[in-house]
Amino acid sequence: MDRIKKLCGYLSPCKTFADVGCDHGYCTLYMLRNNLCESAIVSDVSGKCLKKAERVLEKYVRSGKCTPVCCYGLEKIEKSPELVLIAGMGGEEIVSILKSAYIPENFVLQPMRNVREVRRYLLDSGAGIIRDDVFESGGKYYFVICGNKRGNKNTYTPARLEFGYGDLNGALGDFLKESIQKKREYLTRNLSAEHRAEITGSIKFTEEFLNGEIE
Ligand SMILES: C[S@@+](CC[C@H](N)C(=O)[O-])C[C@H]1O[C@@H](n2cnc3c(N)ncnc32)[C@H](O)[C@@H]1O
Repeated sequence: MDRIKKLCGYLSPCKTFADVGCDHGYCTLYMLRNNLCESAIVSDVSGKCLKKAERVLEKYVRSGKCTPVCCYGLEKIEKSPELVLIAGMGGEEIVSILKSAYIPENFVLQPMRNVREVRRYLLDSGAGIIRDDVFESGGKYYFVICGNKRGNKNTYTPARLEFGYGDLNGALGDFLKESIQKKREYLTRNLSAEHRAEITGSIKFTEEFLNGEIE
């Protein structure tokens, strides 16, 4: 629940909200309960998962404030809601959802992995990233990308594409230190020379970024 609470902190008030890959639907519950949206759509590719959200959001579904939709990504959400959340799935799945539909007017994306691919796709598509953060919950780190369809063009160096714009004195710094430590431990294994060089290079790149030697 701590991850959900922190994730919800990135959601802003809007007229229409969609929670794609909603599963339990707790983020939509947060939006509706706090009057942060006028209406919401919860969608999931799995009918079983969508049922969970329908139970949690029963009162809002009954009143017509929340509409459940069983579909792949944004497939049956033809007109972009003002704000779309896609959270808790792989970055490659998020890119595939956006590619097969559209980039929402405003979005909050929380990929579990392959975050760089999500950034790359958004930037290549002309979308704007306005917040590119990371938070910690239960000892794990979660990247969150907030933006809009036609935002300002951001400067994304190779390091920023990899790590985003989180706080180097906060969660991002802790994440980078931990990943350097893990890679150092990994280097004690019996690795091929080529793989060893790759990991060593990655540690150096991360250290340089962490120490402010590269932007
Ligand atoms: C781990 S849950 C995350 C739930 C919630 N969004 C969160 O962040 O806690 C991932 C959900 O995404 C759904 N899902 C995965 N791929 C999907 C897709 N392409 N379109 C819609 N839902 C998808 C799964 O069925 C599952 O319910």
